[in-house]
Amino acid sequence: MVEHAQYLAYLAGEWQASQSQETITIQSPWQSEPVGDIQAVTQDEIDTSIAAAQDAQKPWAALSLGERGQYLNQWADNLAANKQALAEIEMAEVGKNLKDAEKEVDRTVDLIRYTVQEALHMHGESVRGDGFPGGSKDKLGIIERVPLGVVLAISPFNYPVNLSASKIAPALMAGNAVICKPATQGAVSGIKLIEALADTGLPKGLLSLITGHGSVIGDYLIEHPGINMISFTGSTQTGQRLSQKSIMIPLVLELGGKDPAIVCADADLDTTVSNIVSGAFSYSGQRCTAVKRVLVDDKIADELVAKLKPAVNALTVGSPDANNTVVPLISDKAADFVQNLIDDALAKGATLVTGNKRQGNLLAPTLLDNVTEDMDVAWIEPFGPVLPIMRVPSTDEAIRIANKSKFGLQASVFAQELDEALKIAGGVEAGTVQVNGRPERGPDNFPFLGVKASGMGTQGVHNSILSMSREKLTVINLKSVKQGG
Ligand code: NAP
Ligand code: G3H
Repeated sequence: MVEHAQYLAYLAGEWQASQSQETITIQSPWQSEPVGDIQAVTQDEIDTSIAAAQDAQKPWAALSLGERGQYLNQWADNLAANKQALAEIEMAEVGKNLKDAEKEVDRTVDLIRYTVQEALHMHGESVRGDGFPGGSKDKLGIIERVPLGVVLAISPFNYPVNLSASKIAPALMAGNAVICKPATQGAVSGIKLIEALADTGLPKGLLSLITGHGSVIGDYLIEHPGINMISFTGSTQTGQRLSQKSIMIPLVLELGGKDPAIVCADADLDTTVSNIVSGAFSYSGQRCTAVKRVLVDDKIADELVAKLKPAVNALTVGSPDANNTVVPLISDKAADFVQNLIDDALAKGATLVTGNKRQGNLLAPTLLDNVTEDMDVAWIEPFGPVLPIMRVPSTDEAIRIANKSKFGLQASVFAQELDEALKIAGGVEAGTVQVNGRPERGPDNFPFLGVKASGMGTQGVHNSILSMSREKLTVINLKSVKQGG
């Protein structure tokens, strides 16, 4: 059991209780005990933290990449050494099962180390002016990448360690300072992540951890003139608000999804079923990349459903400390939301294949067949363990329904005929299409992006470093070499 403790905020290089004298109690979504109390940071403290970040950024950027990398590698070592404690806190706080929470810490350690290596191996370019009509070879352009200044990193509850570190690490390697705002439910994990970084002796002020409700301090952070770039992961609703409020600063948004699994008539059904089930139900479907609908060819729909049903029934359901796959949702409100989607679909004629049982915020994995376009569950992201199946007469119809969604994060196509799979992949509007595999973000050296309401800009280690830096061109006007005496 995790001890209920008072956690301080990390502001301008010091662990501090907020002047607000207000704390927020974080309740575990599955244990009856609170996980801890976090600080409700004030606007004045945000101002001080951003000013300190601005002061610390230039000397940080003046360090060599190798020197910056040493801090980050030490951070990775500290996290690896504290893996168990961090995973247990994350399990208590966001209800992720222990095995997955441990994997998240491992993945984060790898990501930080990889980010250091990637930054060390990135380089600029040079260009001569004579490539353009009328241009001269005497103009030599040197293109470097320089930091943006102060990066605001806002992360969601479902990957409180990895999705904070995957913003902080590239921002720091690119020479920026960072203001990190973790999800409130997830903030204790975020504090532990930052403790491991602060313990490296990171220059004071370079990074601050601002805790508090996004609804209270979010707009102030986003609109703050001291912020030079925002990297946000969370819901489409919050992302859209952010894009309306931030003015003339670069923004990367990783938002919600409604990832379809398109199952063709020739699909290998065993591969398809195992990918769909793990894709839809791990961590109770609380992944942006979860399979959130199945579009299956009529001809094999009965067979697919017959295979999906026992696979879903075989999922383990219960508390995260027993490593169950389906665990209590992050809140009762989230469970109510999913239940409403199920109720709406059943009222409109969907077939319940299995599930639709509930104990508080623990929902049994639920499979709905014969879902039609008039049902909310066909379009809305549930972020919970419900999977709608829509039967389609053709691949063209599957593509039409896939693209009718406002979202475009990832999609899967299950087919043995590669030409057909690639044709469908080409027609689907999504950041990534997985052929014969479930949607997922990793490996983290791949670009990761959403289109339409699923996001803006690209993550993945290389692209994150690019998005947190900009090109700077220095032109050397070489002395003309006189031709022919
Ligand atoms: P959320 O409610 O949008 O919260 C995300 C973050 O935004 C939290 O830190 C939240 O703080 C903060 N926030 C809330 N209001 C804000 C405001 N006005 N200004 C600035 N920040 C504000 O999302 P969530 O429930 O944590 O995460 C689930 C959603 O994230 C799902 O839709 C999922 O698909 C999406 N997601 C997407 C990806 C991806 O890479 N595409 C990855 C993971 C999750 P508080 O917690 O204090 O409210
Ligand atoms: O929740 C959104 C995450 O970015 C998904 O990551 O595909 O590795 O589970 P994942």
